[in-house]
Amino acid sequence: MTSSKFPENFLWGGAIAANQAEGAYLAGNKGLTLVDLLPTGEKRRSIMKGNVPALTPLEGEFYPSHEAIDFYHHYKEDIALFAEMGFKVLRVSISWARIYPTGEDAVPNVAGLKFYDDLFDELLKYNIQPVVTLAHFDVPVALIQKYGSWRSRKMVELFEIYSKTVLERYKDKVKYWMTFNEINMLLHLPFLGAGLVFQEGDNVKQIQYQAAHHQLVASALAVKACHELIPDAQIGCMLAAGSFYPYTCNPEDVFQGMEKDRESYFFIDVQSRGEYPGYAKRFFRDQGLSIEMEPDDAGILKSHTVDYIGFSYYSSRTTSTDPEVQKNMTSGNVFGSIANPYLAKSEWGWTIDPKGMRITANQLHDRYQKPLFVVENGFGAHDEVTPEGEINDDYRINYLKRHIAEMSEAIQDGVEILGYTSWGPIDIVSASSGEMRKRYGYIYVDRDNEGQGTMKRIPKKSFGWYKKAIQSNGSDL
Ligand code: BG6
Repeated sequence: MTSSKFPENFLWGGAIAANQAEGAYLAGNKGLTLVDLLPTGEKRRSIMKGNVPALTPLEGEFYPSHEAIDFYHHYKEDIALFAEMGFKVLRVSISWARIYPTGEDAVPNVAGLKFYDDLFDELLKYNIQPVVTLAHFDVPVALIQKYGSWRSRKMVELFEIYSKTVLERYKDKVKYWMTFNEINMLLHLPFLGAGLVFQEGDNVKQIQYQAAHHQLVASALAVKACHELIPDAQIGCMLAAGSFYPYTCNPEDVFQGMEKDRESYFFIDVQSRGEYPGYAKRFFRDQGLSIEMEPDDAGILKSHTVDYIGFSYYSSRTTSTDPEVQKNMTSGNVFGSIANPYLAKSEWGWTIDPKGMRITANQLHDRYQKPLFVVENGFGAHDEVTPEGEINDDYRINYLKRHIAEMSEAIQDGVEILGYTSWGPIDIVSASSGEMRKRYGYIYVDRDNEGQGTMKRIPKKSFGWYKKAIQSNGSDL
């Protein structure tokens, strides 16, 4: 075995989210949350983009989150399997509507608080540290109905109450926190990212950037609360990362690539550097947007910046100013990317670019000079169970191996990376499509797109591979 290129205390593990794993959507007094209104297929896509959903689940419609993989009831069994793989951390999210079912209840919901106490205790029993996201595609539906979700300033106050409740409650159990999952998703899938729904005549950009401002202030207030309540904890932001490549060296393409990256960096620039960058102010001016800010906001953003930059990396993106080239978009990419002729794609049209992991990590490091945390990376694929009951997912091993190798190169480049939590270590519901068929796990879950199956858990071939990767601290891939 070669000597490890990863630091000794590197945090290996996996990442899941309440909305895609827990199910039990009404158990323990939980309120409805935005994902509980998302069916599958075309309807799902349309709502995620901000088209008005039915604000209560419809009779006869299938909503994959309602049961998901029932992690709510299976978490002990699942954590035992994560422990067997040697996880040091598990990234989970707290469902806001389990803690405050309507988002503004006078007191937090005891059953919801207890569920996460039990979950964290179970993890700690195996020395697995929880890494907790406060909001992962999650807004109580009552707040969408009453306030239009993050359109309203009221959300800042309610999110602060929620954040303080869970930070205080779990301060002895959780030392790694994150505020908003893929905060830049708000611009691409505004309902999924922020519960935003649009009516005809709405100025969509104005609403999105006002909502973004509210989330940014709410994020800074959560950072403040975390630093005050848990001085030995770290709290980060979370970016859906993956750099844009210009399709050619035409300066117009290069400039467009920079601008596309800035659409995403905008959020992290505020969360990490504590102020709106000049290019954002220009964008607001050029677009005629006027963002309402309260007098204290600038000070709040400046004083409470994040400790680390969490990011997901699945693929790089490519952009061009040439209308002919623009016709060749990859399907399935919510960020709108041109197909990169040098790279293969997954069955869902997601570009496979291991080198892009190194490029993205280096760029984030150069820009922010803060520790990074790779909190999502993985390969969504259809798995076949053989008649012997095996799942031989060599394609997944191959994807992960090459990405981890590039991450280790980034570390050699001088990039500080706290850890790596691959996405969906157990199969869960796909966020973008609502399918179960798009699987990421080392552990197979017997459940299909229509909600049929026994929920039985079966380790795949990648289970043993990841176990070995962790055991060798990344030197035996
Ligand atoms: C990220 C999200 O966008 O990618 C996850 O944070 C999501 O919630 C993951 O599941 C993979 O995307 P998908 O659509 O394949 O589930």
